[in-house]
Amino acid sequence: MNPVSSISYKKYFPASQFSSETIQSTLNLSMTSLQGELKWWQSGIIYQIYPRSYQDSNGDGVGDLPGITARLPYVASLGVQAVWLSPIFKSPMRDFGYDVADYCDIDPVFGTLEQFDALVAEAHRLGLKVMLDYVPNHTSSDHAWFQEALTGKASAKRDWYVWRDPAPDGGLPNNWKSFFGGPAWTLDEASGQYYLHQFLPSQPDLNWRNPDVRAAMFDVLRFWMRRGVDGFRVDVIWLLAEDERFLDEPENPDADREVVGGQIEHSTLLHIYTQDQPETHDYVREMRRVIDEFDDRMMVGEIYLPLDKLLPYSGTPEAPMVHLPFNFHLILLPWDAQTIRQFADEYDAASNAAGAWPNWVLGNHDQHRFKTRVGAAQYRVAQTLLLTLRGTPTVYYGDEIGMENVPVPPEKMVDPSGLQQPDSPDAGRDPERTPMQWEAAPGAGFTAAGTEPWLPLTDNFAQVNVQVQEQDSQSDLNYFRALTRLRQEQPALVGGSYRSLDSGHADVFAFERELNGERLTVWLNFRGEERAVAATGQTLLSSRGDQPAAQSPLRGHEARVVLG
Ligand code: GLC
Repeated sequence: MNPVSSISYKKYFPASQFSSETIQSTLNLSMTSLQGELKWWQSGIIYQIYPRSYQDSNGDGVGDLPGITARLPYVASLGVQAVWLSPIFKSPMRDFGYDVADYCDIDPVFGTLEQFDALVAEAHRLGLKVMLDYVPNHTSSDHAWFQEALTGKASAKRDWYVWRDPAPDGGLPNNWKSFFGGPAWTLDEASGQYYLHQFLPSQPDLNWRNPDVRAAMFDVLRFWMRRGVDGFRVDVIWLLAEDERFLDEPENPDADREVVGGQIEHSTLLHIYTQDQPETHDYVREMRRVIDEFDDRMMVGEIYLPLDKLLPYSGTPEAPMVHLPFNFHLILLPWDAQTIRQFADEYDAASNAAGAWPNWVLGNHDQHRFKTRVGAAQYRVAQTLLLTLRGTPTVYYGDEIGMENVPVPPEKMVDPSGLQQPDSPDAGRDPERTPMQWEAAPGAGFTAAGTEPWLPLTDNFAQVNVQVQEQDSQSDLNYFRALTRLRQEQPALVGGSYRSLDSGHADVFAFERELNGERLTVWLNFRGEERAVAATGQTLLSSRGDQPAAQSPLRGHEARVVLG
């Protein structure tokens, strides 16, 4: 699902709201804050693993925890700091784990709590942090809480979910829609009431207004933190509360131009009563206080909102909220040097003004593979951008070897978002969730030879895989490692200030990172033609695999990092 339904690129990227004075004063602020030590979630890279697709260890065609544990040395070799696992909790898997039936147990398809403990121990031994995917907005309809709520209006758990009587004409309570198409309400025939679900009918929304719900969900966080978990990615955190009046949402006049991620029907409304409500901010503050009961933990929130509504989710020093509100703009904006530059300038300044640490994302399990999106020629430009901008990068598994969308034939499609929206070619998320390509052998090293993986492997896994790329110094994998090594060797790339440069070309985005007098410049050519640039100093890395003189023209689609 791309929960970005009704917000167009223009709304994500409104005309500059930040004056040059703001930018100047925030630059000073950023220089002061650099003197403090950075936390792991500021200096490190987060690596997202989709557990079903990383490594199958028991030959059932689905990835699992022992499989991930066995691959952790590879993860550590990438130079990343943390692994974020998409949900591994007990689930009927109707939304592949984003429908949780027991928040404090592991689904048998993935393994056991003991195997989870072993994964955490091995990660920590390798110096990696472990982040889990916390899904607070909704449970599975199989969850014991919902089953109890279904027993009737008098049930102690009834108010843990969101119920409404039918409209006076006997129909739906209002016009709210599910992200996956169709109404956001399903009738419980036994009681004659409807329950709310922003996703599948089998994903009923929890009622976060109820303090008992909040207490129970906060205990889930404590359960995992006590088990050694270092952080959480919080699923659809901006959807926690709904307006209590349950009014119809207005039509979106720009619906046809504003479909992002294939959610055509959901995009027909403006979600002013179901998203980003003031109460949600209160609940996130409360959630943060729970995280802060433990040392050095963090949370990153899934939030698809424009900058002015996104950054407030960082909270204030007195009342902090999420450590990182996910910034999805590299996914949402057109791949164009000027557009990206303007956004990076505004985001950097606005983050400083808000006292927030920036972060960048190119891909996840809900979005098409970025190599497919920007095109193979621009792949290394995008990868360089992600790993050299100021802020925490998040990397989606397989992007380090240049995995692309895998066409999934209709009979193999399993994602409910795609199956429920057959008229929307972009709604299905199977193409970006296919098994990791480890080697050229049958099963790609993901699963046993002869076992059918839960989603098809790409046709070209014999060429595009970890084993082949390990042996090729010029491979995408080794380019990725060169970038992460550079981050380790050049503190300016991690903690340094950011300032964009006038490259002299509309299709070249250039910027500098500076820390304690150490200055690096990054040059990104968004076009296939050579461009003369005014770089000086020493080239540290080029996407072409050589070290051209800094002042030599930037070749087509070249990314270059220069010292000095
Ligand atoms: C988030 C997840 C997505 C899931 C949805 C419902 O957007 O990233 O995969 O389908 O929430 O939980």
